[in-house]
Amino acid sequence: MAAIDLRSDTVAMPSPEMRRAMVEAPLGDDVFGDDPTANRLMEVAADRMGKAAATFVPSGTMGNLIGIAVNARSGEELIADADSHAFYYETAGAAAVCGVQIRPVATEAGVMSAEQLLDAVRPRDDPHQPLTAAVTFENTHNRHGGIVWPLEALRSAGDAAHAQGLRVHLDGARIFNAAVALGVPASEIAACADTVTFCLSKGLACPVGSIFCGSEEAIEEAKRWRKRLGGGMRQVGVLAAAGLIALDHMVDRLAEDHANARTLAEALSELPGVSCDLARVQTNLVYFDLDSMPAPAFTDECAKRGLLSDWIGPRRMRFVTHYGIDTEDVQSALKICEEVLSA
Ligand SMILES: Cc1ncc(COP(=O)(O)O)c(C=O)c1O
Repeated sequence: MAAIDLRSDTVAMPSPEMRRAMVEAPLGDDVFGDDPTANRLMEVAADRMGKAAATFVPSGTMGNLIGIAVNARSGEELIADADSHAFYYETAGAAAVCGVQIRPVATEAGVMSAEQLLDAVRPRDDPHQPLTAAVTFENTHNRHGGIVWPLEALRSAGDAAHAQGLRVHLDGARIFNAAVALGVPASEIAACADTVTFCLSKGLACPVGSIFCGSEEAIEEAKRWRKRLGGGMRQVGVLAAAGLIALDHMVDRLAEDHANARTLAEALSELPGVSCDLARVQTNLVYFDLDSMPAPAFTDECAKRGLLSDWIGPRRMRFVTHYGIDTEDVQSALKICEEVLSA
């Protein structure tokens, strides 16, 4: 029997329709701007984000790095949530590659208030301090449990940043999860930002790729950075073809992943020795804590029984629902958890 893989939405496999489209896609050299399938995806993606232009990048990490590079200069500072992916998981790329210092701001649930943001902006008249160039927001917020920023909070933080002359990058790796949860077009969420990255290879189930969107000028600069980073790919239409299918057919179904995550979270929170903050389970991520056994041991025991998962801290676990996980898998996963916890 195949394992139930709840480690991440990145493990989602492309649909049969994607695979067919990948085989049949008309292709060209995308670094020359000649790939018709990639060009079509860029038009559709930019339009979905309400931006003028877009470019295909191999990963969300590269998209965020380019977002930092085009919005801040070497020696400047960028404000980010202390638990953001850009600060926590992107191997200090901002510092190592762009010479940009990240100023981490601890927030309650990944939602930075305008006040917190303003407190972190450096005074412009003090030569001892770096200049603050930009801020990045993450929506949905991974380490804060896949929470969705309320639109009002996002607008207010974005407006506060712009009023200070800062540029705003949105790490929208899972922006479509946020859009589906809120019932609004993704462009409404991206409106707070000058540039946005979203991932095709997470809940949208594509094999590879992310899209970086912004103004024509931002994309021109992004393409130079992409080349510098080794991310200029050639017949990338092979991947873009899957992206086009994803934007047409894989967005609305994210609601199923959210419902499955909810079922998991509610049942887990009933198990002895498990605490799960249900208020934070708003999309496809389920974080929970174990009182009765260490998370690595729980992960190992689940794996022996065919449930793959990810431990995040000594007692902290994460389950992620995605395309390929159905309601039956959710029930089987819950049975395994119950068995492991009562062993
Ligand atoms: C919020 C967020 N941003 C960015 C990324 C990076 O994406 P990638 O794995 O494609 O580099 C991830 C990956 O999990 C993520 O969760």
